[in-house]
Amino acid sequence: MERKKITLTDLQRKKANGQKITMLTAYDYPTARLVDEAGVDMILVGDSLGMVVLGYDSTLPVTMDEMIHHAKAVRRGTTYAFLVVDMPFLSFQVSEEDAIRNAGRLMKEAGCDAVKLESAEPRVLRFARAIVEAGIPVLGHIGLTPQSASKLGGFTVQGKDAAAAARIMDSAAALEAAGSFGVVLECVPGPLSAQITGLLKIPTIGIGAGKECDGQVLVLHDLLGLFDRFTPKFAKRYVDLSAGIREALQQYRGEVESGAFPGPEHTFTMSEAELKKLGGCCEHHRG
Ligand code: KIV
Repeated sequence: MERKKITLTDLQRKKANGQKITMLTAYDYPTARLVDEAGVDMILVGDSLGMVVLGYDSTLPVTMDEMIHHAKAVRRGTTYAFLVVDMPFLSFQVSEEDAIRNAGRLMKEAGCDAVKLESAEPRVLRFARAIVEAGIPVLGHIGLTPQSASKLGGFTVQGKDAAAAARIMDSAAALEAAGSFGVVLECVPGPLSAQITGLLKIPTIGIGAGKECDGQVLVLHDLLGLFDRFTPKFAKRYVDLSAGIREALQQYRGEVESGAFPGPEHTFTMSEAELKKLGGCCEHHRG
């Protein structure tokens, strides 16, 4: 059956009908195809790219060019899902003009459907509004925002006391007022995201934010067991692919070393007659 590409209207309708929205990260063509074929609603080229694919210690070093390079590959593997690309650190905080230009690059060069940006600080809100006014859909991201982990005191749960929770609620409402089509809530208590989800007309997408959000997002490499340098409590591992890959690689090495690979089924043949002629050539070369 031919599936229809997901649009913002579909995401809004899902919220209105109480249907959960699914979202996963992808960083290259093969993973994008797998996520897309699984019928996931939204694909995020997250700046988690920096940690799970590029081997950086945080998301801070990720550049616009790296995001675009990976997002282009994801675009080629995505036909159905709504494609969101993260704006990396300092690509939207410097000036309004810079924010619009960088968001525009993600649309023009990478072909994304929307951009995501972290935080709801007043200047970020202003720039988010400007990006939306330029015709680029924006997904907000509040709670634990990894790009400002240092300022937040590390990778910790946000909004645990009433005052902090109220600030996160205000941020969510401000992002909606600025024109965001949705908000990612990361690492906040379930009861807080339940209240925000009830308050907003736009969908909330949770990661470590409980089941009451309108949708859920996970980092693909956490779900597949492909990244074990740091596993947050909220990341559910559905399969341990690292173990399977390690086993296959060791088997390959053993078979090459023992001569079991390549076997006859992996080897091309040639006719005896041609082989005989080649023998003549060999003699000629030996001189
Ligand atoms: O970069 C990322 O993968 C994200 C998700 C954790 C939401 O922002």
